[in-house]
Amino acid sequence: MACSYLFGAFLLLGDAFAFQQLPLFDPSPVSHNHVAAKELVDSASLQNRIHADNLFDRAKVLYSIAELGTDEYNHPTRVIGSKGHLATMSYVYSTIAELGDYYVLWNQSFPAVVGNVFESRLVLGNEVPASAIAMSLTPPTKDKEPVLGPLTLVSNVGCSESDYPDLTGKIALISRGECPFGTKSALAGRAGALAAVIYNNEKGALGGTLGTPSPDNIATFSISGSDASSYIKKLKNGQSVDASAYIDAIVETIETTNIIAQTTEGDPNNCVMLGGHSDSVAEGPGINDDGSGSLTLLEVATQLTNYHVNNCVRFAWWAGEEEGLLGSDYYVSVLSPEENLKIRLFMDYDMLASPNFAYQVYNATNTLNPVGSEELRDLYTDFYTSHGLNFTYIPFDGRSDYDAFIRHGIPGGGIATGAEGVKTKAEQQMFGGTAGDWYDPCYHQLCDSLANLNLTAWELNTKLVAHSVATYAQSLDGFPERTSFEAADVLPSKYHGPKLQL
Ligand SMILES: *[C@@H]1O[C@H](CO)[C@@H](O)[C@H](O)[C@H]1NC(C)=O
Ligand SMILES: *[C@@H]1O[C@H](CO)[C@@H](O)[C@H](O)[C@H]1NC(C)=O
Ligand SMILES: *[C@@H]1O[C@H](CO)[C@@H](O)[C@H](O)[C@H]1NC(C)=O
Ligand SMILES: *[C@@H]1O[C@H](CO)[C@@H](O)[C@H](O)[C@H]1NC(C)=O
Ligand SMILES: [Zn+2]
Repeated sequence: MACSYLFGAFLLLGDAFAFQQLPLFDPSPVSHNHVAAKELVDSASLQNRIHADNLFDRAKVLYSIAELGTDEYNHPTRVIGSKGHLATMSYVYSTIAELGDYYVLWNQSFPAVVGNVFESRLVLGNEVPASAIAMSLTPPTKDKEPVLGPLTLVSNVGCSESDYPDLTGKIALISRGECPFGTKSALAGRAGALAAVIYNNEKGALGGTLGTPSPDNIATFSISGSDASSYIKKLKNGQSVDASAYIDAIVETIETTNIIAQTTEGDPNNCVMLGGHSDSVAEGPGINDDGSGSLTLLEVATQLTNYHVNNCVRFAWWAGEEEGLLGSDYYVSVLSPEENLKIRLFMDYDMLASPNFAYQVYNATNTLNPVGSEELRDLYTDFYTSHGLNFTYIPFDGRSDYDAFIRHGIPGGGIATGAEGVKTKAEQQMFGGTAGDWYDPCYHQLCDSLANLNLTAWELNTKLVAHSVATYAQSLDGFPERTSFEAADVLPSKYHGPKLQL
């Protein structure tokens, strides 16, 4: 059986993925299939099996998978719908399937909304505002043709119907704030507007997503507050401003798939769950985002097969994270109350190897998040502290796949190494690297490739993931019981996935 699993690996992966580079994950694969020889999982022992070489070998496989996206996108990518993403899912699925009956594996397909803006142009008065961009998931203008109309200011922050005058034949100008961009677009659409322009109420440029499409949504741009200010002044003084808007875009629904693997052993009523996302953005191969987290999960899932577990462990590879947490949202939305209550906690692992890394821990607390989130946060910080390493807290604000869990009563948390944020001087002292640069200078770009990984951070964080899995798979004694599966009464967060929604 041990032998057939190794040969199976070769057959399932096929020639395309340079399988000869795959490491043998266990120097004695024969022995680990003898159930009697297994011991109860133990953190130190599981951590000892984590090696940067194995992780990097998997990253090489993943990069060759991303190259399959080149046919259609002219560069490597693993965006949902691409060959690169399909092959990523096959790689995850076959890797777990090769582990035999240690895991039960399933595919959860769901509809995913994807958008693409081909062309856009906004003219206010006689100017093209430099900061104007079409928002993600915007519909096109009518018949994909330019529309013309007077720019019309919407009252307050445009979150209630009464803020909107009759906008028939007009283009709405709306402040950012208080409610999601999608709500504003739909309200403007219902008031009859031809298009909408949302201006920033904070410093700087604005970009974001309309989120789940509503039939009322209209073509929507965002601009900076400074670009908007002269027009707001004119409109308030009773002067008129002609505007023209043009967007050629599509919003369509495709099918994509979450892959879930659960240990056959362990108490199925007390599950430890963790996830990373299998997809990348269209712009690049996504080797750090979130190749690193996805491959960490694969490696930990592989090494875990050497042990017995007391509690069930459930791994998830989400799809559609980059389009707005689609896979994790769907997964949680279809859980029955009974199934929801079986998940004792959810751990999110998204970007673990940023080249200019910081050791970041989501600042999840029991006051604002389901009780247990803070115990998980402390497990992470204790680990860094006990290794003599520094860490920072980062906002737990809806940017990754934990969001649906904590909104449905499930304690959550996670670690990361940083995306487009700028490393401070103090953080350079704490972690090394370069102050003033992004934590991940290739975030959401073509260069998020094999060179965009810090193996020191990746190995250490994978050991921490192993620690989190081993700790809770062994025992949940003292970890807060689940009490509620109700959606927590939380306001919409600024982010829903990588893009601003509010
Ligand atoms: C699940 O999805 C994977 C990856 O797309 C595929 O290889 C596998 O055949 C699917 N399995 C089932 C049972 O549908
Ligand atoms: C973490 O969150 C708590 C509760 O919201 C807050 O009081 C604290 O200031 C936060 N800490 C950091 C470092 O962000
Ligand atoms: C932790 O940060 C301090 C500065 O705040 C620095 O002096 C120390 O060297 C850092 N520790 C490590 C292990 O980098
Ligand atoms: C990764 O980070 C460590 C610690 O800051 C540093 O010593 C090492 O050079 C980095 N490696 C790469 C490949 O950037
Ligand atoms: Zn990500």
